[in-house]
Amino acid sequence: MRKEVAKTHAETSQQVALRLKEFINHNPGALVCLAAGDTPLSAYAALIEMQKNGEVDLSSAYYAGLDEWVGLGYENKGSCRQVMEDHFYRPAGIPQAHIHVFDGKAADQQEQAREMEAFIASHGEIQLTVLGIGLNGHVGFNEPQTPQAEGCLLVELDEVTRQVSAKYFDTPIPVEKGITLSLAQLGKAREILLMATGAKKREIVHRILNAPFTPEVPASMLTYEDKTTFYLDEAALGE
Ligand code: PGA
Repeated sequence: MRKEVAKTHAETSQQVALRLKEFINHNPGALVCLAAGDTPLSAYAALIEMQKNGEVDLSSAYYAGLDEWVGLGYENKGSCRQVMEDHFYRPAGIPQAHIHVFDGKAADQQEQAREMEAFIASHGEIQLTVLGIGLNGHVGFNEPQTPQAEGCLLVELDEVTRQVSAKYFDTPIPVEKGITLSLAQLGKAREILLMATGAKKREIVHRILNAPFTPEVPASMLTYEDKTTFYLDEAALGE
């Protein structure tokens, strides 16, 4: 795994946006998977600015959602769908036909999993993914105890994730389950951009850097030497 350390969250965001721009420009029609969460939003904003300047056509790519809180939809502030629609897909002008996300409100979540797998299969594979990291080391909703399998997973949310969830919602919502692309699915991507910024991520960053491929720290399972880059700021690294 390569490490890119920038001084600040803003600089890390710019680095990630630049890499995304290059990748999309060189791989028209590629399927990418962009995480929701707070960490990558400034990178997406920077990417949208680059499009405004004529540097990239974001509509040339296709987008698969990473995860969703089961029970939540666009109308719930803090759902992955709401975050990505409002911060990326809509301001970037991505056509609906280029986007497939989980519907957390659908009664049949197994069907949601199958539909996502079919969407990804229709594009071959996800080629690039941008992922944040939870305080417990999760990526998407691959929690430390999530039994792993191929494709998409329905998971019981970890206690840490349940507690952290409150920061995304404007009213308290008791979330219990999530739907997510599995580590196996994400690991097939040709390029993986892991992001962690801010001092509160320092401890988990150190665990990932010191012990790759540990199931207790799901993000560490994606620390491939040849295709993963860990984008950090100095606060997350602790220097
Ligand atoms: P955050 O979430 O970017 O809001 O810190 C990361 C995650 O839980 O995956």
